[in-house]
Amino acid sequence: MKNTTHTYGWVAIALHWVSAVVVIGLFACGWWMVDLNYYSDWYKTAPFLHKSTGVLLFGLILFRLMWKVTNVSPSKIGNALEKRVASIAHAILYLLLLLICITGYLISTADGRGIEVFSWFTLPSFGAWFDKQADIAGLVHQYAAYALMGLVLLHVIAALKHHFINKDNTLKRMLSNRS
Ligand code: HEM
Ligand code: HEM
Repeated sequence: MKNTTHTYGWVAIALHWVSAVVVIGLFACGWWMVDLNYYSDWYKTAPFLHKSTGVLLFGLILFRLMWKVTNVSPSKIGNALEKRVASIAHAILYLLLLLICITGYLISTADGRGIEVFSWFTLPSFGAWFDKQADIAGLVHQYAAYALMGLVLLHVIAALKHHFINKDNTLKRMLSNRS
């Protein structure tokens, strides 16, 4: 279940892949939903699903970070420069995810209304904290989401390079804890 110095445990593996699928789904949903018009059946449903899933993702990321700091991390594979770049890239991935969730919250709650999460609970609003909050947070949300997708693309290329060119264990140990 837990990580060791050379492999990820299944909790870290599950958290990685569930968040990867959810993040890509939220990006596609966000991209599509902002152009919906008022007469579309999805005009209200799509933002509802986007925000609800986003809030749950935020919880998942917090849990993932807690899991990470209370576990050993498998040592990085590659030369010193590659290891350094990978650590920085992973830290930026986490920071962008947090920034996107926080700005998503700031967009949605600027008008004083909380976020209804799948009709299950409502995340309260604390109102607007600064002028033009929805617009500014909206821009940061949008560009941070684009930056995240750009970095994820490099991240995937790096994973595939490790697998097919260096033929090392980097991708395999994120797929199964038996490698
Ligand atoms: C707590 C989590 C989240 C909340 C509350 C949230 C909320 C929102 C809201 C309210 C909008 C509409 C903004 C507008 O009308 O201009 C939006 C747009 C968008 N969201 Fe999220 N979001 C969250 C997480 C995410 C995540 C994790 C991603 C994935 C990268 C994402 C990607 C997008 C994209 C691409 C747009 C469209 C931006 C644009 O073109 O204007 N969101 N989000
Ligand atoms: C939205 C999509 C994704 C996000 C946000 C993401 C994020 C991350 C993060 C933050 C880590 C560091 C884990 C740690 O704390 O140790 C990581 C590791 C990893 N990811 Fe992703 N990932 C995504 C998609 C993918 C995809 C599609 C692949 C494969 C093609 C992949 C392959 C890997 C591998 C192999 C590692 C382990 C790297 C190592 O051992 O140093 N990821 N990912």
